[in-house]
Amino acid sequence: MSVQIEDLELLDGVREFALTHPHPAVHRFRESMRDWGNDWIAVEPAHLRAANFLAGAIASANQQTRALMETFEQHKDRLRWEQSYRKEDGVVPDAMLEGYAFAEIIGKQGPFVSDRIRAGIGIWGPDIVYPRHQHQAEEIYIVLAGSAEFDIGSAGKTGYDTGEVIYVEANTPHGFLTGDQSLVLYYLWQAGDLRQISSFG
Ligand SMILES: [Fe+2]
Repeated sequence: MSVQIEDLELLDGVREFALTHPHPAVHRFRESMRDWGNDWIAVEPAHLRAANFLAGAIASANQQTRALMETFEQHKDRLRWEQSYRKEDGVVPDAMLEGYAFAEIIGKQGPFVSDRIRAGIGIWGPDIVYPRHQHQAEEIYIVLAGSAEFDIGSAGKTGYDTGEVIYVEANTPHGFLTGDQSLVLYYLWQAGDLRQISSFG
């Protein structure tokens, strides 16, 4: 099977967003994003409830994030929505498992295969606590829609809104709490194991 045009639209949207982003922290990821790799693999779609929050969240996007939000909404049924944690692991609240999902566009498991960079979006419904966790990769979150209170390293709790960028250094504890609206985050990982399951506590 050859690369699907819809996947290319997602790849272009995700790459363009990072490569043109003015924030200096995002510039750290430009080289990996430029040379992410070359392979595409077909990915079996998988639905999770949180993907349904995407359509409503477009209302809280801004001029900079709306186009990418619309691209994801348009293609959401062909994405593989997934979760990193299971109920039996007991590391995140049940409410988070009921109301979050992420979909990867570039990463170790495709559809665009990379061992350099991981890029995709995550969605969290209202009133969800994502406890502090850490991983080897350095990470960027860009708020595509909504807002949350982030707790990164020793910085204390800080609110971030649509369009704002959160940079998390490697091996730095980070977590967040959503408010009364759903939150859509664009995420980037680079360096370390790109499918590492975070550690908690
Ligand atoms: Fe993270």
